[in-house]
Amino acid sequence: MTAQTGICAEPNLHAYYLMFDIKPDGFGAVRAALAELPALWQPLQRDYPDAAFSGLVAVGNEAWDELYPVARPAELAPFPAQQEGLRIAPETPFDLFFQLRADRLDVAYIAVQGVMVLLAGKVELKDERQGFRYLDGRDMTGFVDGTENPEGEHKAEVALVGEGRFVDGSYLHVQRYKHKMARWQRLAVKAQEDIYGRTKVDNIEYESAHKAPTAHTKRTSLKDASGSSMEILRQSMPWGTAAEQGLVFVSCCNTSLHFTRMLDSMFQLDDRGHFDHLTLFTQAETGAAFFAPSQEWLVAQGD
Ligand code: HEM
Repeated sequence: MTAQTGICAEPNLHAYYLMFDIKPDGFGAVRAALAELPALWQPLQRDYPDAAFSGLVAVGNEAWDELYPVARPAELAPFPAQQEGLRIAPETPFDLFFQLRADRLDVAYIAVQGVMVLLAGKVELKDERQGFRYLDGRDMTGFVDGTENPEGEHKAEVALVGEGRFVDGSYLHVQRYKHKMARWQRLAVKAQEDIYGRTKVDNIEYESAHKAPTAHTKRTSLKDASGSSMEILRQSMPWGTAAEQGLVFVSCCNTSLHFTRMLDSMFQLDDRGHFDHLTLFTQAETGAAFFAPSQEWLVAQGD
């Protein structure tokens, strides 16, 4: 099978993120429309090779059964919302998620228009955000994001389901974070670095012994019972308006478990009362769980 190109895509300069709900009588028409996406996107890749365009559609947990009653990915489940005091990561389900990425904004925008025409009358647009590369791949907090992502062939091993009916599909978790920038910028650089467990300008990882138990990279580096690293592929990008900014966080994985355990580790207090201090400086405004099936699945279900 062939994975959708946006899952393992290399970092790009621009992105559009679209969230839709399907109208109650629109499911059959949307199923047929999604089958046309690979053919809609292929010319963009062919005609604008310099743009390195990639498309990705993923179907929300709540919409899956009505859209594809024939079978359901085993680990597709509601978004694992978190609440610990004032720190929250809410669940805001959406039926469809699109990630349209390219190194040219115009090409990404052509894809947006194509999706809007394809889905017209069948869906409601619920959320949209434009993502962009910030400096040398930094989050708006000023730190390089994505350094410890899996690379090369390992990317696909982490991000894609390896076997079975949903082979080459991916479990996605998407959150739109809004940063508390004024609060973050009041911190000294050393305090910011301690929160990530990495240096800011040079992006060097702290030695493990020097990482605080509250450091983001400490809280998200988890191992399973057999001692193997629990990895995800992050495809996040910054967003910003004049007044607000943050991160569209996108996790792709062959299981839902790894993201779920990481988010829990970020928000919940451990036995010594520690949690991820990054959660004091950014607020998740959305959170939704999806499955991005293979291209062949999309096409076959449209018949
Ligand atoms: C690492 C930023 C949310 C999982 C990092 C790094 C940065 C960063 C700057 C260090 C460089 C790197 O390896 O990429 C952010 C920001 C977030 C956010 C700004 C929200 C606004 C999350 C969430 C998860 C997550 C929600 C998962 C639930 C990870 C993982 C690493 C990482 C697995 C690599 C840890 C390691 O092996 O060192 N993040 N992150 N992040 N983050 Fe996040």
